[in-house]
Amino acid sequence: MTDTAHLYARAREVAAHAYAPYSGFHVGAVVVAADGRVFSGCNVENAAYGSAICAEGNAISSAAAAGVRKIDTVVVACLDGGECYPCGNCRQLMREFAVDIVVVQDGNGSLRTHDFADILPHAFGPDSLDSGGRKR
Ligand code: THU
Repeated sequence: MTDTAHLYARAREVAAHAYAPYSGFHVGAVVVAADGRVFSGCNVENAAYGSAICAEGNAISSAAAAGVRKIDTVVVACLDGGECYPCGNCRQLMREFAVDIVVVQDGNGSLRTHDFADILPHAFGPDSLDSGGRKR
């Protein structure tokens, strides 16, 4: 199994743990940090619908909590749908941690690998702030 296929399999495993009683849409995400560590997350919904947290956001938050500040790759899996591209908010979260590559399923059993710049062109990001005072 290739690295990507292995990461995707892992994303599907975590998607099985999604808490998605409202949408029935089970998503899992795996992120690979620049230092090689791997983190995962699933979507977690809420009776207050707007409080749902996406799989990608949970995976990125886990990485951040472990001290990660650079993520190389994000792999997304969905058990219920066809194509599963990250939402706009998650793309912005990815930008913050300088993601290079995003892998998604295409709905026909294949994976698509995208450069992040194609996923969120002309992104607003840390460099866009002119304060020069960003603290990490
Ligand atoms: N969802 C994700 O977890 N990631 C995405 O990229 C798209 C959407 C979740 C949020 C919500 O729990 C459900 O899928 C339906 O939108």
